Amino acid sequence: MSVSPRYTGLIDKYRDRLPVRDNTRVISLGEGNTPLIRLHNIPKLIGKDVDIYVKYEGLNPTGSFKDRGMTMAVTKAVEEGSRAIICASTGNTSAAAAAYAARAGITAFVLIPEGKIAMGKLAQAMMYGAIILQIRGNFDEGMELVKQVASEAPVTVVNSINPFRLQGQKTASFEIVEELGAAPDYHCLPVGNAGNITAHWMGYSEYQKAGVSNSLPKMVGYQAAGSAPFLRGHMVDKPETVATAIRIGHPQSWDKAWNVQKESGGWFDELVDEEILQAQRLLAQHEGVFCEPASAASLGGAIRDVKNGRIPEGSKIVCTLTGNGLKDPDTAISQCKNSVLLTIDATLDAVKSGILKNFAQ
Ligand code: F0G
Repeated sequence: MSVSPRYTGLIDKYRDRLPVRDNTRVISLGEGNTPLIRLHNIPKLIGKDVDIYVKYEGLNPTGSFKDRGMTMAVTKAVEEGSRAIICASTGNTSAAAAAYAARAGITAFVLIPEGKIAMGKLAQAMMYGAIILQIRGNFDEGMELVKQVASEAPVTVVNSINPFRLQGQKTASFEIVEELGAAPDYHCLPVGNAGNITAHWMGYSEYQKAGVSNSLPKMVGYQAAGSAPFLRGHMVDKPETVATAIRIGHPQSWDKAWNVQKESGGWFDELVDEEILQAQRLLAQHEGVFCEPASAASLGGAIRDVKNGRIPEGSKIVCTLTGNGLKDPDTAISQCKNSVLLTIDATLDAVKSGILKNFAQ
């Protein structure tokens, strides 16, 4: 039996391509190395000859792609002597910041919009021991406050305006190129602050320049219709969507993301909430992959663009599933009213009849 070396996280794996030194103390929870799952049933269902893969970032240690950026941001914060980090968050960044701060033995302050973050994410921030400042306002307001307070207090901002975040997140593209042996034709992502689409483009571009791959994907960003500044062409003040992770009206990487769109020849589009939820259900019920609502915007958008021909048949498509479905059980349960959930007596007869009645399903 050949034994492969133990995987110890993306900084160790991609040390040569990340701004760390040999003696840097790495703060890691084994993030990265997530599965790239080829969809078997959905292409048949839509009757199109396309190769769709989902990069299941929900299998990172805190259940979202944020861990890729957070291992870098917290490693650098600690290296620079910081004792506390701070972020504004729609939930996932706060969970990741809290976990990596716990791992590093420093304090995490997280600003979250009251009542607008999914229950699993709140549970994570609480359990990892973050100091939670719940604001009567939205993410964008929280972000402004974080920027202001960081200029006056000894705390390191770990939102994606921290350049180390994007450095860590670019590694997802490295993994995709290595696994497919080339870049895909299209890479679809949900877009909020637009940090992740920017980071992925950095990763693909870096591998192309280094000769690891010889092509680049078109980058396609999907937003929730109620929170779609890239579609409106300007900032949106009161963003709304069921996909609370991307309930953002003032993206921090606005210019960078427009450059990505232009350089890659991709585009932005929007989905209404019901389309997002439909894609979430489709993926769970036909492929066995459970992502959170925001994540499903990438697949929902890709399916629509395959159906309407904007993404041609024969294409190889990667959709990033940014977060795990378990993060937001309330939204999942509330849209599964037709699930077969029977309460029965604990008798053999009742079980048998429950099976017989539902066998056709
Ligand atoms: N998907 C999920 C599940 C997210 O949590 C986020 C962002 C995005 C997509 C959008 O990524 O901002 O890089 O365009 N969540 C941040 C947070 C804002 O606070 O957790 P982006």
